[in-house]
Amino acid sequence: MKMRCAARRDAFRLALIEQMQPMSAHWGEKGFCSEIANASARVWCWEEDGEILGFLALRQAADIAEILNFAVQPKSCRRGIGFRLLSHALRDVQLQGRKTITLEVNITNLPAISLYTKAGFKEWGRREKFYGGKEDALIMGIQL
Ligand SMILES: CC(C)(COP(=O)(O)OP(=O)(O)OC[C@H]1O[C@@H](n2cnc3c(N)ncnc32)[C@H](O)[C@@H]1OP(=O)(O)O)[C@@H](O)C(=O)NCCC(=O)NCCS
Repeated sequence: MKMRCAARRDAFRLALIEQMQPMSAHWGEKGFCSEIANASARVWCWEEDGEILGFLALRQAADIAEILNFAVQPKSCRRGIGFRLLSHALRDVQLQGRKTITLEVNITNLPAISLYTKAGFKEWGRREKFYGGKEDALIMGIQL
């Protein structure tokens, strides 16, 4: 089992996980490549026996980080991988002296909201009918 920074060679496999999880962002392989190369971004993945099972990507600016993309492949869900990825991201952001992490999540995405709440995130705001003019987005955040 290994938490590690993603490399460009991982982009194809990260995009496959994203395809399996409709609630994640949809960057595709090219999007992951450019994010991994971006100095303001951090992309981690969780690997077991050479297989990538999940990832988390965020961007940082000044003292704020924002989680932009996060998924665990369906067959590996509910094994604590999401929580470990999120906890690792929180620690890393804190170690770099940043004070705040925010994210946006579909209000119908109860697994993700439950995970963020378990990690200490609170609801900071709401964007009405943000997704396709239908579902609201919750803005969640945590002060480190
Ligand atoms: C959200 C996601 C990353 C969670 O990954 P995971 O590895 O299954 O999460 P974990 O096993 O670490 O679970 C940690 C906590 O999350 C919550 N959780 C995870 N899956 C859940 C589910 N299906 N129903 C309810 N709560 C759930 C629980 O609070 C759980 O804690 P518990 O095990 O003590 O009950 C995963 O479900 C996923 O990829 N979802 C699709 C993509 C997505 O929604 N990304 C976030 C966009 S903002």
